[in-house]
Amino acid sequence: MRDLISIRDLSKKDVESFLSEAAKMEKLIGTPKSELLKGKVVANMFFEPSTRTNMSFQAASKRLGAKIMTFYPNTSSVAKGETLADTVRMIDGYADALVIRHPLEGSVRFAADLADNPVINAGDGGNQHPTQTLIDLYSIKKLKGKISGLKVTLLGDLKHARAMRSLLYGLGMFGAEVTLVSPTSLRMEEDIIRETKEKFGTSVTQTSEISLKGCDVLYVCRIQKERFSDQYEAEKIQKEFRVDLDLVKFAPKDLAILHPLPKVDEIPPEVDHDPRAKYFEQAKNGVPVRMAVLYKCIKG
Ligand code: CP
Repeated sequence: MRDLISIRDLSKKDVESFLSEAAKMEKLIGTPKSELLKGKVVANMFFEPSTRTNMSFQAASKRLGAKIMTFYPNTSSVAKGETLADTVRMIDGYADALVIRHPLEGSVRFAADLADNPVINAGDGGNQHPTQTLIDLYSIKKLKGKISGLKVTLLGDLKHARAMRSLLYGLGMFGAEVTLVSPTSLRMEEDIIRETKEKFGTSVTQTSEISLKGCDVLYVCRIQKERFSDQYEAEKIQKEFRVDLDLVKFAPKDLAILHPLPKVDEIPPEVDHDPRAKYFEQAKNGVPVRMAVLYKCIKG
């Protein structure tokens, strides 16, 4: 293990190894024993906005005793026209690992091919978000004690959300049964669904109707407005496609509601108080999971 670019590059054994390392890291947080990357430097390079991924990689690096170096594209020489390739080559000479988020699909793998040090994909356009998937699988396992056999509903903008693409693959790998709920215009690409079905024999159902009967995990994502050419259309769909108290009221008592966050209108704030809303806990799991990722990518 050197780079982490796509969940599709990992075997089930690799993912299990990340999840068990994350469980160890969670116990180490706040103890001097967590300083496993003392002397190392991690570069955070975010070419797209982020709260959780950026901050939790910073927290994870600090918890591990590593120094974090933040790259700001708007005040860097990218603003003068420097290419991604040259930027990556430079930072690769200053740090021991590069955490990259970029709007172009495939750009992080391109960066990994250029860098000598490990490169971690923090989200490349609508393509992949592998560390989010590790957090999601870790959270589901922690909440439900297993992933295999669970009925998981993925709801929202399944066309543009990279977290959903990565997660479908991860859920398939671990034997969950998946229902995809989205407006017809925002369905996940067929080839992504086909790959998961063919590779893992996953049961995947597609619908535009929300029904939570028998559902163990409801995983919601926002409408990705920034990836729409028509903002009016994005806002219209966002208003129509919501998980509100009326829906949650009739949902199973042991349902876990997850969301990669940020959430906008798709989950109103009153749902946050429902004990089944687990998305803030899920986001907190980002620190031990990303500690495990940094440790395994840097130390091997
Ligand atoms: N889930 C997630 O990737 O959040 P950020 O965009 O805030 O990093």
